[in-house]
Amino acid sequence: MANQGVTDPQYEPVNTGRRRFLTATTAVVGAVGAGIAAVPFIKSWNPSERAKQAGAPITVDISALEVGQRLVNEWRGQPIWIVRRSPAVLEALPTLDDHLRDPMSENPDQQPEYVLQGDVHMRSIKPEVSVLVGLCTHLGCSPEMKAEIRPEPFDANWKGGYFCPCHKSKFDMSGRVYEGVPAPTNLVVPPHHYTDDNTLVIGVDPQGAA
Ligand code: FES
Repeated sequence: MANQGVTDPQYEPVNTGRRRFLTATTAVVGAVGAGIAAVPFIKSWNPSERAKQAGAPITVDISALEVGQRLVNEWRGQPIWIVRRSPAVLEALPTLDDHLRDPMSENPDQQPEYVLQGDVHMRSIKPEVSVLVGLCTHLGCSPEMKAEIRPEPFDANWKGGYFCPCHKSKFDMSGRVYEGVPAPTNLVVPPHHYTDDNTLVIGVDPQGAA
């Protein structure tokens, strides 16, 4: 089924008394990049609604995803962000370690091991493409993407990342959480792999991955 990216998704805060992720009821359709550029057209091949609810993997074509843009899909009721990061953002990531709670992603619950096998700061299979579950690890709001490196009202030295307006948690462009905010852990990286350069499968580890 073809999928068009149109707008940034708006998620209601989720009441997660006992669990981190609850099903977001809003349809996930959007794609917005740094500078508010909409992804022109993004194809993906998704299973039926019934299969999606059962947690089937989703396949996403990222060939139209440009630098600074985000593609949003839904997997298991969660928004999955796929972001093509700029070289400047990638360069800035290692400089942030001193400001982060878990800069080396040592909490194994937050990502599969294989995304740490390259440069640990990237938390990704390909350095430029970040894949994250777009739900704040505090109470499950969907943070805003602030991908540009520029002063922001909430951080004069902002190097790009995600800002959760609910209680002001901050994450970098790898989803690593800043110190001193309510969110306790980094954003989750879901299981995923590439079947070719531009095709991502969300929900399945790479072949041979532990
Ligand atoms: S839900 Fe994100 S800071 Fe509270």
